[in-house]
Amino acid sequence: MANSESAKMNKAEYWDERYQSADDPPPREWHLGYDQLEDYLKAHVYPHWPADASIMHPGAGSSHLPMEMHNRGGYTNITCAEFSPAVIAQMQPLDPGLKWLQSDVRDMPGVASGSYDVVFDKACFEAFCAWGPKHLLKEIPDVIVSDSRRYSQEMYRVLKPGGWFIIISVFEARYVHHLVKCEGTNWEDVHAPKALSADGWMQTRAFCLRKPGAQET
Ligand SMILES: C[S@@+](CC[C@H](N)C(=O)[O-])C[C@H]1O[C@@H](n2cnc3c(N)ncnc32)[C@H](O)[C@@H]1O
Repeated sequence: MANSESAKMNKAEYWDERYQSADDPPPREWHLGYDQLEDYLKAHVYPHWPADASIMHPGAGSSHLPMEMHNRGGYTNITCAEFSPAVIAQMQPLDPGLKWLQSDVRDMPGVASGSYDVVFDKACFEAFCAWGPKHLLKEIPDVIVSDSRRYSQEMYRVLKPGGWFIIISVFEARYVHHLVKCEGTNWEDVHAPKALSADGWMQTRAFCLRKPGAQET
């Protein structure tokens, strides 16, 4: 692991403490907010999915993206999945139109297979990767490979055939694909990774993967 803090990022206790810390007050939005994502959403997501599409935001945290996709995007069936009770307590009262599910997104036994049309990840996958493509692909620590692949397999399971797995990440495509396109999944690219921010270190990109199957959008 790169350092002691990043080694804890796959634990709910770490996030609870962080969300309750007076040194790190809300609101917190990782990477881009709704305003920066809106062009991408309007061009590549909204035209494909109707207002009643079932959408999950894994690791929704204190992001306002789910609220904005509800209030400005018009989506009526949004579930925020989180393993930090502290952030759920902070965020749930802000929009009664969102559902919150306390769950570890690496293993969601309470969620039936084929439940969602879209999984929209902004910076949750990155929590498994301890912030970083700091390693050569062949040197990625086992815990990162194992966490991120369990997560990818679980998102594959809970998506409907034809469902989309969107990942907003600052990691390079070769790193994301190496971890997410794993055994037990058969992801297809909906589009090539799209740059959402200026070129350079920490450039944010949208990855859009599809679970093969009958449902066309
Ligand atoms: C980097 S923050 C991103 C928060 C938010 N999506 C955003 O973009 O602002 C990662 C979030 O994922 C949550 N998280 C990390 N691992 C998780 C897991 N295994 N199951 C559920 N939530 C998890 C953390 O509690 C945290 O809120």
